[in-house]
Amino acid sequence: MVEPRLYAKYSDLQRTDNLFVLDKYLRLVKWKDDASVLDVGFGDGIFAMENLKPHLPDNFRKLVGCDINPDMLKFAKENYTDPKVDFLKLDISAEETPVELEGEFDHIFSFYTLHWVTKQRQTYQPNI
Ligand SMILES: C[S@@+](CC[C@H](N)C(=O)[O-])C[C@H]1O[C@@H](n2cnc3c(N)ncnc32)[C@H](O)[C@@H]1O
Repeated sequence: MVEPRLYAKYSDLQRTDNLFVLDKYLRLVKWKDDASVLDVGFGDGIFAMENLKPHLPDNFRKLVGCDINPDMLKFAKENYTDPKVDFLKLDISAEETPVELEGEFDHIFSFYTLHWVTKQRQTYQPNI
């Protein structure tokens, strides 16, 4: 889980489940124009870049992949370059949200991540 190369190699189970979720629920999303999208727990970036991003509306403004683990973000940055994609080190359960993120996102996704977070109540405070 903390080693991006190992995660990239051994995450077929997660990918299969994530694809099931996308297939079942993505059609329910009411996309905003010029959408700003956050993926929480971006990990190695493979799922978000190869499976989520192609389903974003053509006119999406940006996709931000955040993760608590800088090694994951480094791996993702090395493998994906896209002018509309940013990478951000962020603990989604932190008590203080960086002020520049407040109200910044129209849509927030998260795959196989929130169950890892111990501070559940704090995580769901609507400050992003
Ligand atoms: C199992 S991986 C999922 C990666 C990707 N979303 C996927 O589905 O393949 C979980 C990711 O959540 C990240 N993570 C765990 N706790 C986090 C937190 N508090 N804030 C942000 N990311 C966190 C981990 O570093 C890890 O990269």
